[in-house]
Amino acid sequence: MKRKPIKIGIIGGGLMGREIASAFARWRALVDVAVEPQLVGVADLNPAALEWFDDGRTLLTPDYRQLLDRPEVEVLYVAVPHNLHEKLYCEALEAGKDLLAEKPFGIDLAAAERVAKTAASTKRFIRCSSEFPFWPGVQRAIQVVRAGRLGRILEVVSGFHHSSDLDPGKPANWKRQSAVCGEIGVLGDLGMHVCHVPLRLGWGPARLFAQLQKGYPERPDGKGGKAPCDTWDNALLHTWAPIAGQDTPMRLEMKRLAPGAINTWFFEVLGTDGGVRFSTAEPKSFWTFERTKEQSWKRTELGFEVPFKTITGGIFEVGFADVIQQMWAAFLLEREGALGDRFGCATPAEAVQSQRIFAAALESQKESRVVNVAGNG
Ligand SMILES: NC(=O)c1ccc[n+]([C@@H]2O[C@H](COP(=O)([O-])OP(=O)(O)OC[C@H]3O[C@@H](n4cnc5c(N)ncnc54)[C@H](O)[C@@H]3O)[C@@H](O)[C@H]2O)c1
Repeated sequence: MKRKPIKIGIIGGGLMGREIASAFARWRALVDVAVEPQLVGVADLNPAALEWFDDGRTLLTPDYRQLLDRPEVEVLYVAVPHNLHEKLYCEALEAGKDLLAEKPFGIDLAAAERVAKTAASTKRFIRCSSEFPFWPGVQRAIQVVRAGRLGRILEVVSGFHHSSDLDPGKPANWKRQSAVCGEIGVLGDLGMHVCHVPLRLGWGPARLFAQLQKGYPERPDGKGGKAPCDTWDNALLHTWAPIAGQDTPMRLEMKRLAPGAINTWFFEVLGTDGGVRFSTAEPKSFWTFERTKEQSWKRTELGFEVPFKTITGGIFEVGFADVIQQMWAAFLLEREGALGDRFGCATPAEAVQSQRIFAAALESQKESRVVNVAGNG
């Protein structure tokens, strides 16, 4: 298949920068995607991070401006610490680049609004990274909800649990410090993942009560000393979302201190006529409930039912690397105007709305009261 090449640069060659480059490297797995990302440059301050990308033909530089200045770079993926998001996103847009921006969309709501404004004024195509909707189980859940098979919706739970902060001996990094990670802490880290599907279904919370918890106040600094850690680690947001004219309870859960969970994203919708449930802890299982005489949940075993078809046989299993690649297929095809009715990446409006939810959560925690979420209700 002849594919249109899209020249891409990566700013931030850490954990996620490498993951994205590897999704590009196995792009041939996709069978009906008429575009092909070509990694042309990577910028990172850390020479060791750049070394991993060294294939003799990719531009490797400590200065991200070199990627902004190169006219052939059409799209940038930016995966750097959160305090740099607004500056780098806005500079990339102003340099005429389209952008897949890592979450959160700026370090706080004001930053997110400025990024969205810059995207609008420069007329660039920008989306925010959120790959979990591309799991087959999530796509199935969305289809069932949209088909209206659940009756009146009684309750929604959308969550993402880690145990990445449970070990007090784990050295501190920028994700544990508000100055770099943002005052929103875990909300910024995991919140876009949790908000994307509810917002896409039109279930923006109108008001919420937040319970936020901090983790260990200090950790080893990796150099024999201690480093202070001040971010919120766990967040339970008890929200009310208007769904089909009914005020509906919706719980958004984001945790970095969740005993037993490594990287578990989950989604459950319960209605009077039916229910759907999916968790990455059980990635092949899609659970459905239908109201009959008996109370029972049905488990459907899922295969490789991804939105963008691949060479992988339908009976095989999907993993994190696959959904990352699916998200990129959605991003690049939507940019070409060829997404069709397939699920698209988180839009600037959804990313800004997620930040309004996080801002309301901080206020609710501070004042221990229910807070209205701007832009909804
Ligand atoms: N979508 C996901 O599932 C997912 C998962 C993890 C992290 N993330 C997000 O990805 C982003 C990066 O996180 P990570 O885990 O890859 O972090 P990381 O610390 O592993 O990598 C960040 C990289 O940015 C580099 N960097 C810092 N300042 C820079 C600058 N001025 N110019 C160029 N490079 C610079 C660092 O040297 C580092 O290599 C964050 O926004 C994070 O929230 C997303």
